[in-house]
Amino acid sequence: MTVIVPGTSSPELGEDVAEELDAELAGLEYKKFPDGESYVRLEDRLDGEDVAIVQSLHPQNDSLMELFLLLDLVNDLGAEHVTVVIPYFAYGRQDQRYRDFEAVSSRTIAKTIDNLGADKVVTFNIHDDRVLDFFQAETVNLSAASVIADFFRDDVDEPFVLIPDQERSDFGEDIAAELDCDFTWLVKRRHRVTGDIETMIKEEFDVDGKDVVVADDIISTGGTMKKAIEILQERDAASIYIAGVHFLPSDAYRDIEATGAEKVVASNSIDTDISELDLAPVIAAELQNS
Ligand code: R5P
Repeated sequence: MTVIVPGTSSPELGEDVAEELDAELAGLEYKKFPDGESYVRLEDRLDGEDVAIVQSLHPQNDSLMELFLLLDLVNDLGAEHVTVVIPYFAYGRQDQRYRDFEAVSSRTIAKTIDNLGADKVVTFNIHDDRVLDFFQAETVNLSAASVIADFFRDDVDEPFVLIPDQERSDFGEDIAAELDCDFTWLVKRRHRVTGDIETMIKEEFDVDGKDVVVADDIISTGGTMKKAIEILQERDAASIYIAGVHFLPSDAYRDIEATGAEKVVASNSIDTDISELDLAPVIAAELQNS
């Protein structure tokens, strides 16, 4: 039986996973000192237990530090096998050295998690699954494709799936397979220094009269989604549904909604007002089967 440790940034998701599994939920005491330092304490020892910590890395730096504290702590308190579930893996976009002499931040995180004694790491639509190669621990990258398809299934009479970034084309293929429809992707380039986005069409596609689901792993500024919506509106899509697995809280939601998209949703990897896609059953199924 797994004991779920609900991390400081994912208390509700941790509870939901425990409920799905009918597993014990570890009692966690958490506070911030006046100077900003984090404090965590568990209510009991974990001798011989199979433990899963559920902790999304948002807000990025505090939640990372708290994950490190929790991971070290559960091992210290006697856990036998430790799985770290990181629904949103921050720093995943810093997965290689794009410019000379810069830090490969996701590798730094992987090394630290390994050193602190994780046996298994579970992520969700990580920005680039090459990040998983940085870990010594066993890794699994889950996908929200079926959750997204199920969420929009009843809304889309003439479905079509668009992925605004060529690197997520597999994700689009999976959603399209669930909805039994065609898909395509856009080619996106981001300037390494300014962050400006340039979006191009891979090959012409017809969405006239279609109900298009646009899905991406991350919505941050919303710039990528707005470009995709513009392209779809120029091609007379009937309706546009937006799904970001990880929505980094910002004004992006209002900006995207203002374009006329029918619906903008994200998962509960980060708890926001639009977190309508529930990842708990998929995480629970993975923990159950491992
Ligand atoms: C980047 O390649 C990701 O897949 C997303 O497309 C990106 O992070 C979205 O960022 P934004 O909302 O700032 O355009």
